[in-house]
Order: sequence, then C-alpha cells, then structure tokens
Amino acid sequence: MKSSEVRRSFIEFFKGKEHREVPSAPVIPHGDPTLLFTNAGMNQFKDVFLATGARPYTRAVDTQKCIRASGKHNDLEDVGRDTYHHTFFEMLGNWSFGDYYKEEAIAWAWELLVDVWGLSVERLHATVFETDDESYEIWKKYLPESRIHRCGAKDNFWEMGATGPCGPCSEIHYDRTPDLSGAKLVNAGVQEVIEIWNLVFMQFNRMPDGELKPLDKRHVDTGMGFERICAILQNQTSNYDTDIFAPLLQRLSELSGRVYKHDLDDPDSTAMRVIADHIRTLSFAIADGALPGNTGRGYVLRRILRRAARYARNLGFNEPLMFKLVGVLSDQMGEVFPELVQQREMIERVVRSEEESFLQTLERGLERFDEIVNNLRAAGAEELVVPGADAFQLYDTFGFPLDLTELIARERGIGVDQAGFDEHMAQQKARSREARKVHHQEVDVPVLDVKTAFVGYERESAESEVLYAEENRVVLAETPFYAESGGQVSDTGIITMGGEEYNVVDVRKSGDAIVHIIDGEVEALTGSTALARVDRARRAGIRANHSATHLLHEALRRVLGDHIKQEGSLVHPDYLRFDFPHFEKPNAADLNRIEEMVNAKIREFIPVVTRELPIDEARDIPGVRMFFGDKYGDSVRVVTIDDSYSIEFCGGTHVANTSEIGLFKITGESSIAAGVRRLEAVSGVGVQQFISGLERSLTKEKSTVEELQGKIREMQKEIDKHRAAELAGGVDDYIKQAKNHGDIRIVAQRVAADSMDQLKNLGDELRAALATRGIGLLALEIDGKAQLVCVVTDDLKKQYPAGKLVGIAAKALGGGGGGKPHMATAGGKDLDKLDEVLAGFVDTVAGFGS
Ligand code: SER
Repeated sequence: MKSSEVRRSFIEFFKGKEHREVPSAPVIPHGDPTLLFTNAGMNQFKDVFLATGARPYTRAVDTQKCIRASGKHNDLEDVGRDTYHHTFFEMLGNWSFGDYYKEEAIAWAWELLVDVWGLSVERLHATVFETDDESYEIWKKYLPESRIHRCGAKDNFWEMGATGPCGPCSEIHYDRTPDLSGAKLVNAGVQEVIEIWNLVFMQFNRMPDGELKPLDKRHVDTGMGFERICAILQNQTSNYDTDIFAPLLQRLSELSGRVYKHDLDDPDSTAMRVIADHIRTLSFAIADGALPGNTGRGYVLRRILRRAARYARNLGFNEPLMFKLVGVLSDQMGEVFPELVQQREMIERVVRSEEESFLQTLERGLERFDEIVNNLRAAGAEELVVPGADAFQLYDTFGFPLDLTELIARERGIGVDQAGFDEHMAQQKARSREARKVHHQEVDVPVLDVKTAFVGYERESAESEVLYAEENRVVLAETPFYAESGGQVSDTGIITMGGEEYNVVDVRKSGDAIVHIIDGEVEALTGSTALARVDRARRAGIRANHSATHLLHEALRRVLGDHIKQEGSLVHPDYLRFDFPHFEKPNAADLNRIEEMVNAKIREFIPVVTRELPIDEARDIPGVRMFFGDKYGDSVRVVTIDDSYSIEFCGGTHVANTSEIGLFKITGESSIAAGVRRLEAVSGVGVQQFISGLERSLTKEKSTVEELQGKIREMQKEIDKHRAAELAGGVDDYIKQAKNHGDIRIVAQRVAADSMDQLKNLGDELRAALATRGIGLLALEIDGKAQLVCVVTDDLKKQYPAGKLVGIAAKALGGGGGGKPHMATAGGKDLDKLDEVLAGFVDTVAGFGS
C-alpha cells in the first residue's frame, strides 16, 4: 500500500464511524505560549479538552503535522541513529470529545489494524497504565494476557507538556522479531518492537503546581505514527525504506554520489537519514510561518539546520545542499500539504541563506574544535571533556549550538561541560541586561490606586482634576497625554496648575493611572484643576509616522512576502523604525516598490477608521493583523486603512486621512540580528527636513570638494618647487664629478627629473653654474626611452654646438635631435646604451674638437 493510500484509508475508516475529517493545524501553534511546535494531534483540540472551547462535532479524524525537537517530546537525538524517530512526522488521529471512550477506541483500532489492514494478530501487543483495569479487561477480548502489559507513568500516562490535558493511555506495539519473541522488548526502545498507536484517555488537567485536576468530560485522543505504520504495511523494517523517504534519499545519493544503505553503522547513510529528516522539519515549519532565529522556536530551527549542515559536510558537500531537497519534498507531499508548494521558493531561500551563513564559520569552528581537543590531549587529561568556556566560544563565535558541539564530541568519545557552558551563557545574558539598563533611564513610578481616563484620541488638551502630585509626578483624572506603548513614544507638552506651567517630559502608565513626569517639582495640589496641553506639532508628527508605519507594514508584506510581521517598532515624531523577520537584505528595487506603494496610499486620500470592537468580533475580521503573544482585553481598537488594505489592532494615535501623512521616505535599512531587518523612514515634515539635510550636506560636500581641489593645486605647486630646488642642488654635485678635456669641464649625468621640462630647466641651471668652459649632457628615462639635453657655455658654443653634440649622442641611442648651439635636446630608444653614451661623452667632445 502506498503511503498516500494508508493516509486515506485511515481517514475513510473513521469517517465511516461518523468522524468529521478536519485539516491538520499548522505546525506552528499560534496562540499557545506553552508550546514551540505542534507536537501532537491533540494540540488543536486542547481547548475542547479543557472546556474553554467547543467544536460543532464530537468525533474527528485527521493527519496532523508534528515536530518533536524541543520540550517534553524531543526526538532530535535519536534521529538518524535509529530507523523510526523523526523530528517531523505525521500523526494520524481519531478523537472523541465527551463521546465514545475506551471500549470503542480499542475496538476500532483493532478493526482497522487487523480486519482492514490485515496485520498479523500474533505480532500485536498492548500496554495499559498499571492501574487501568478497565482497559486491561477490554484488551482481553482481543489478545492473550501474555501480550497485554501493564506499564508505569513514563510510558502509559500521556501528558502534552508541563501543564495541560493528560490521562492514562494504552499503546499498541508491533513485534518484528522472526520468532515472535518480542514480549520482553515492548518499550525497550529497539526497532524490533515498536509502538505504532497510542490511545489516550484524557481525563485530567495538569496544573502548574503539579496537581491533576479531573476534567468535566472524558475524551479519547489517539495518535498513530504514520511513517511507522507505512513501514509495516510496506514490509520494511525502517521508516526510511518507505516511499515517504525514498525520493529524498535518492536525491541525496545522486547529489553526493554515495550509496544509501540500510546499515545503522554506516556514517554516510546516517548523515542521509538525518538530512532527509531535518529538511522535512525545516520545510514544514517555514511553510507555516516560522523562521530560523536566535531565540525560542527560531533557535530550534537554526540548531536543526546547522546539525544537518554539519552532516552534509560529512557527505562531502562544501556548498549549501539542503535547499536542493525542498523541491523533491514539495513535489512529493504538495498534494496533501499545499503550503509546501505555495511557499516553496520562500523555503528554499530561507534554508539556503541559513546554510550559507553557517558554512562561513563551520570550517573554522571545526578547526577550533580540533585545537581544543589537541590541547586537552596535550594537557594529559584522563577523561576528555570540552571545557564550558570553549563550548561557549564555539557557540558565540562560530555559531555551534551546544547540541552540535555535543554531537561532534560524542563522535570522538569526548564529553562536554554543559554546566560550564550554561554558566558562560548566563554571564553573557547578565552582561547584556546590564548594558540595556544603563540605556534605559528608570523612572520610579509608584503604584497608584487611581484611574486616569485617556482622552487623547479625540482631544489634544483637557481640563481635569489633579488626583496626585508629588515631586516630579502628576496624575490627572483625564489626560490627552499618550503614555509610551506599542512603540509609539509618549507625548510631551505642558501642564498648568496652581498658576504655574510645567513641562511634561515623559509619560508612564502605572496600573490604571497615567503618570506625567515633569521637569520640576510640584507642591501638593491634589483636588485642584489643571490644564494639560499636548505639544501639537510633535503629536502631528507622531500621528503621521504611526499611520505610515501601518501602511509600511502592509507594503512590506505585499512586496517581501507573507512572513513579514512586526517584530518591533518605534514611532517617533521625527522618524519611524520598523523591525521584521527577513533573511536577506531587501534589494533597492523592492525598497522602491515599498516606498511607492506607501506613497500611493497617501496620495489616494484614504480615511483612516478607528473602531472599538469586542475582541471576538475583531479577531474574525478577514486579514486583521494582531500580534500573537499580545494580551488583548475584552474590547480592542482596530485601525483600518482602505477597508481590506491594512487592518491592525492598535492603541496608538493616527491621522484621520492618509493624505495628512504628506510623503513617505525610507532613509535606512539594516540588519539588527540574525534574520531581523530594520527599516527607518520619515514622513510629512520629516521628509522636508530630510531633504533640507541632504541639500545642506550636498552644498557642504560641494564646497569641501572645491576647497580640497584648491588645496591639491597649492600642494602640487609646493611639490614642484621643492623638486626643482632639490634638483638644482644636484647641479653642483654634477660639476664636482665633471671630467676634463683640457680646461673644459664635461658633465655627463643621468638625472631624476620628472619631465622633459624639468630636464631643460636643469640644463639651464647647469649651464649657468658652469658659466664658462663647460659642456653638459643630462639624460633622463621616460616611458622606456632616453631623453637628452645638452648645454654648452657661451664661450664654447661656436666650437662645440650643442645641437651637434646631442645629435651624436642620440644616434648612438638609435634616435636623433637637435637645437640651438647653447642648448639642444634629443631622444633615443636604446636605453641599455645610455650608460655607455654618458661615459663616452668626454671622448665624443674630444673627438668633435679635433
Ligand atoms: N496525544 C497522544 C500522543 O501524542 C496521542 O495522540 O501520543
């Protein structure tokens, strides 16, 4: 039976028993802070079990995508090392919500396994919770007592997590031993006898203090490991040998050129199993909206990816590999889970960029690891344990999650000092907490038992009773002042009381009171009336930037993808900042489109509508953006721009019409943490200020450039002067080295001038210095050629015309030239003859004169 048929037949079987087929919940449990990942089929029905929610049916059936890589149910360490644990798997389940109980649950499980799928009865075992006589008695109808086992809480009392619904369970195990000797192997953690189906009888809620509180109704929650039952129905002993994993393993073999073997001891095959498992987890998690990151869920994914990347390296890959498997998976499973097809490109990009960034440090980290081990060996330690400080360095500098370090260490039979690692981690956290504290100026706000009504949505000033005034803190019965919240900064302004004006420099919430922090001290004025006025221009800037933030949020989502959500935001009168998860730098074209889209909405003159709605109603608005994890009261404020364009839960202050924003300009883009980008932007007056600033700096730059050019010109002149002086100084030296022909001094020198002009100047200087009875030949090398200047003092120029002399010299260099009798120039290409020509110049003169 193909796996797709197994899945279908399970669902059809229970539909035949009046179960409603429901879709799998996302693998990312939005709205349950106790869970990082959906880890069981029952998660989406937790509220039904706890009676805080209800469904219009009492029986359900589905296949649920599960991830078990963290928390109470964590199978990460077993993956790849055995054949039947996965970080991602499907759980087939049937449910009774206060409907049927043990009798039917067991009977139908038996019917499906034995009558429909034809599993051999001899191979089935059942376990029951040690005190659950009721289930024991029921099983006796189907199985001999030798194959019914009573077990303790570890195996037969199912709990979702540290808290939540739970109850005794009864598991069905499958015996693969050839001689049916599996009875003693039940729950032994071996692949010969594995659990295939768990029937949980939900009847308690585990409270945070550990107490078990009975539920009002009793329910059934069953979970069957889809990959395991497929292996059994396909006559395989390993889940990896089913058609579920075959396409991934085959692709891995093709890409690596290595053969996949069933062998658990073969390192290549272990690596392939791990990679095949991990890419499923990553793909499904990312498809459902998670991203690798530095904390919580994101870090679990990052750890999984890095683990896989390390195994890929063992398979000989030095380039990103995992992203190449996403297509295989989406082709294979896209029909049942269309999100894989829809998000394929996104998954590939995320996985690839994560791999790339880890590969940058993986190699160096492994080298560092070797070094650490060598040091330990050299120190002659008896038992090798990677010290906490080193494990922390691998984590902090090379991006090795602790479990990766442990894995590598284990492969070499070494331990890791986990406590030491934790200690370093705690120290780092404390340091960054300290650093944050210094930046955040604490204002001591007392907890007051008074209540302020915020009237700042409608008004910018209010007259109100003073409820409290002490030192620099004032609380009024009503105030238009907004206290920092949701990223929007506090208002500033003025409070007038007792005839004095006080500047409000900050505003804080304290319980139900809004506390104004003023820049002076007040006498007790409680009971009197104060006038509170918000700085209106500043407020206008805040309003524009806040509404612009909503437009930006939606534009980002439309341009960069559905994964965009607000991770942080700052709405300031002069600018705004928006942080969002994204794995690569948005390119200039995308940023342009985003900016354009926001500006288009501004120009469209769209009313911004704010409504106060009951939470249940607001939650159901299609497309509404709320922030998972935020707590909302019974009613929420919903800010809508352009009906279906942007709808957000928001308590901030906004413009009445988008046109008030004026204009929007992105001014900066950066990365603030792995996978988190930050945009900075301005709107309205801020854009004008931004442009003025640009203009100013352009003008400044222009004058700076002109100033610099002037300076360069002056410096060049200076340099020329120095050079000339330096060369002229050399003339005396040349004369000292002159040779004689009779009483004629003959100078022949190679010089270091920079140009023909300088050479001629030098010739002039030499001629002047010689004054009488002197002849000079100066040579210079330019562009691989020789340049010559010949000078002759006036008393000799008739007898020894410079033009002639230089002509003779140039000829020897394969060139020619000429000029006046007192000075002439020439050039020649045979540079290698130059020294000879210079040395022989005295003979040239002698020969010429004779
Ligand atoms: N909740 C149980 C389990 O996860 C049965 O679905 O095993």
